[in-house]
Amino acid sequence: MRLDGKTVLLGVTGGIAAYKSPEVVRALRQAGARVRVVLTRSAQEFVTPLALQTVAGEPVAAELFDLTQESEIGHIDLADNVDVILIAPATANVVAKAAVGMADDLLTTVLLATRAPVVVAPAMNVHMYENALVQENLAKLGTHGWQIVQPDSGALACGYEGPGRLPDAAVLVDAVAAAVAPKDLVQETVLVTAGPTREYLDPVRFLSNRSSGKMGFAIARAAAARGARVVLVAGPCSLPDPRAVETIRVDSAEDMAATVGREGRRATVVIAAAAVADYRPATRETQKSAKKKGASRLALEETPDVVATAVARKPGRIVVGFAAETSDVEERARGKLDRKALDLIVANDVTAEGAGFDVDTNVVTLIDASGSEALPLLSKDDVADAILDRVARLRAKRPESAPGRKNR
Ligand code: CTP
Repeated sequence: MRLDGKTVLLGVTGGIAAYKSPEVVRALRQAGARVRVVLTRSAQEFVTPLALQTVAGEPVAAELFDLTQESEIGHIDLADNVDVILIAPATANVVAKAAVGMADDLLTTVLLATRAPVVVAPAMNVHMYENALVQENLAKLGTHGWQIVQPDSGALACGYEGPGRLPDAAVLVDAVAAAVAPKDLVQETVLVTAGPTREYLDPVRFLSNRSSGKMGFAIARAAAARGARVVLVAGPCSLPDPRAVETIRVDSAEDMAATVGREGRRATVVIAAAAVADYRPATRETQKSAKKKGASRLALEETPDVVATAVARKPGRIVVGFAAETSDVEERARGKLDRKALDLIVANDVTAEGAGFDVDTNVVTLIDASGSEALPLLSKDDVADAILDRVARLRAKRPESAPGRKNR
């Protein structure tokens, strides 16, 4: 997700994962943010101010009672002039101090003085992380509106295994973007389909396509950041489950249709970004089939159309489809908009530079009954937000009929 025009204050505290903080700064800047850094004294045992200053492109602040620094980077200026604060890694010590409102260094002072949202990424030894006092402190910060990013599980620097690892920089960027995103979809339950499907000939062979799932996953992450409850039905792809999203992995078109039919009942918005196979082998062998002499023919049958058959049209439900084309893009997309009774279709020419499969950008045209809007080359994250802006606008036109609103 993008952070253009936002200023992020990164607080780095003294855990071993502090050595990853220059990577976090880079990822935040790549997402478009200006990054100001505050280092605690013990963090400087793991990473130097010079390293962070170099990647941040501006001076970093370390001491509260440094007169030169205070005149150049005042603690009230830091507290007032940032859009969001990320503490990564957050030690048990800073979590405890924050939870009782202590202010004995620059970072904790800024935390008390700020009105910006705060995102905390605890990273520490598994036994410390699971300690009831640490959990109580984190829960307390949560009740005060601080957003806690759960640590990853795995091998820890201390030799133990378990939760305590600092998540990847991309996960931290998403958490920061979510903290500053407009919460205009809180009323919605959004179901997103993503990725390809696999149609098996036998236990080891299948028909599939080049979809990477990136567009659908970007939509799911963006919708969650904007406050929606999100269910992501994903065909086989290598992307990790997005945080704050209920991800259901499926294999074939039939699987996807059944899952969407079941899970889609509560959806107020359905966004079908999956590249669903239109045909599957008419028979699926139970054993691996052996090579036969000479040419062979494969008999195919149609798969269910997920969006046309599994998504019931309810009053107020907004349904968005995709049309990945190689020619007559707009005309073909309009045909699908009508045939599948969609509210909006996202059309793209997959042969255009920067569009289509396995890239992080896309060039799309948004088409609905009122007309079409061609967007420039954008990151898939930005395309996701543009689609969701349209969904929010469609919802504004028919607010009363949104299904599920009363029961939430
Ligand atoms: N779609 C679907 N289930 C299918 C086929 C397509 O849900 N079996 C959805 C896609 O997720 C997309 C939209 O329908 O949102 C259009 O997909 P596309 O493959 O372009 O359309 P088709 O109906 O398959 O048309 P064609 O293959 O003739 O281009």
